[in-house]
Amino acid sequence: MQDVSKLDQAALNLLDHALGYMYAAALRGVAQLGVADQLAAGPRTPAELAAATGTQTAFLHRTLKLLATRGVFREDEDGRFHLTPEADALRSDAPSSLRPAVIMLTENNFWQSATEFPATMREGKPAFEQLFGKSFFDYMVNSEDAAVFHQGMASYASAGNPFIAQSYEFPAGSTVVDVGGGHGGFLLTVLRENPGVRGVLFDSDYVVAGHCLDELGADDRWELAPGDFFAEVPSGGDFYVLKYILHDWSDEECVSILRNCRRAMTPGSRVLVVDSVIPPGNEPHTGKLLDMFMMLVVTGRERSEEEFASLFAKADLRLSRVIPTGSPVSIVEGVAG
Ligand SMILES: C[S@@+](CC[C@H](N)C(=O)[O-])C[C@H]1O[C@@H](n2cnc3c(N)ncnc32)[C@H](O)[C@@H]1O
Repeated sequence: MQDVSKLDQAALNLLDHALGYMYAAALRGVAQLGVADQLAAGPRTPAELAAATGTQTAFLHRTLKLLATRGVFREDEDGRFHLTPEADALRSDAPSSLRPAVIMLTENNFWQSATEFPATMREGKPAFEQLFGKSFFDYMVNSEDAAVFHQGMASYASAGNPFIAQSYEFPAGSTVVDVGGGHGGFLLTVLRENPGVRGVLFDSDYVVAGHCLDELGADDRWELAPGDFFAEVPSGGDFYVLKYILHDWSDEECVSILRNCRRAMTPGSRVLVVDSVIPPGNEPHTGKLLDMFMMLVVTGRERSEEEFASLFAKADLRLSRVIPTGSPVSIVEGVAG
């Protein structure tokens, strides 16, 4: 006779995994409603929070109780909810707020792509292209989703930017070209921390138009360079940063971007790829979650050190070192091969 007195732990684990998307969905919901903003001045009851966010008390309460199991919000003995460090980062006006990142990562077009794992795996093509009829970055050019993506990306990157910038020495007098630099958050950090350095922000024209570099005020050590990195990248840089770029693209596409950087380099210039470097084995790693994103949405993937070395070699570059940053990404440095 089978012992039915307790469910097998493996079965419970599996069923919890299947329900795991509820955390992401609930997080998106409270981010959209701005619940964390309502706790900035101190703890509040579910009824107070519901009145402030236009929601039903019991429904909001149940949602917050789920998130509290993951450390997002904390409920005290009197039933009032508090911010935790995770919930604090959801406030719209938190320094480096992650609210735009949470909303971007859980956007409907990504969510829909994630329902198409079987087709993606069978056909070896991102579901996004099959669902929306265009590659992700072509789709973004004329989409109202573009602002959500680029602001979300800036927010996603903001937490790591200081760690990455401080992990590398940019000598005074050098020029950093941020290739596909988005709105320029990383370049802004580098320029603030390195007063003798100049910067060039290179990305599609409609993206550089939304740049944040004028936060430097009268400091004019930067320029904008709209363009297409599959055509060419600006010449004369000492450092060519590719942050969260190569993971968007297939090996062939990466080699084309790297060759364009190589052509633009002068003797002594370096390429700095900033991406996850996936270690061997099956330990959890943020890069493995991002890898699913890349598989479903774009033609890219997260890579190991050996895979970066092989891409570099095909672009007449040599991987010189991998520098950890204290964040989930590393700096993979390349020099002329
Ligand atoms: C994942 S985002 C990374 C942004 C930024 N480097 C960061 O770390 O936040 C990829 C960037 O590549 C840019 N991009 C995509 N295709 C491009 C192209 N053909 N030429 C230039 N930039 C491109 C996008 O506009 C976007 O800003």
